[in-house]
Amino acid sequence: MSEQQGDGRSLATEQRRGFLTKALAVCCGGLATLPPLAAAFWAVLDPLRRTAGAATFLPVTDLNSLPADGQPRQFPVIADRVDAWTGFAAEPIGAVYLKRDEGSDTVEVLSATCPHAGCFIEMDTESKCFRCPCHNSAFTLDGGIVAPSPSPRPMDSLECKVDKTGGVSVKWQNFYTGIEEKVARP
Ligand code: FES
Repeated sequence: MSEQQGDGRSLATEQRRGFLTKALAVCCGGLATLPPLAAAFWAVLDPLRRTAGAATFLPVTDLNSLPADGQPRQFPVIADRVDAWTGFAAEPIGAVYLKRDEGSDTVEVLSATCPHAGCFIEMDTESKCFRCPCHNSAFTLDGGIVAPSPSPRPMDSLECKVDKTGGVSVKWQNFYTGIEEKVARP
């Protein structure tokens, strides 16, 4: 083998080694950026994950605030709200009517959102019923439909929990409007 051929081979080996070193460095660099990229992607998706979550119990009031004579009373539902990627701390997200059964700690909860088209249902204390001012749906104090009514179903009832100290929590949910079935929104 001539001296010129030997030099050529060692140059080729050097170049190959240099290429492999660079390729390895690029691979390692790429791998190192994966965890922060994954974290950023997860953070961007976070609001979408939260809006898809199940309904949760939210504290609304305590038993002492409810009339003992069975009359419903309206309460706002307060929660931290996430609108797309912006968070709002402790904002009203809806309203409910709570009714304490006379002489007991059992509490019934009705959503104040009208099942017809989502307007706010008011209480008509004179007529002893609920009314929706948008299209004149009326409901009994138990939430039943007063016919004729544009609302296709009774007021939506909600689950409720009373803890040992008398704190009342409501499982807040929105339901699809304008249909007979009570179907929770995701
Ligand atoms: S939204 Fe209540 S009657 Fe139409």
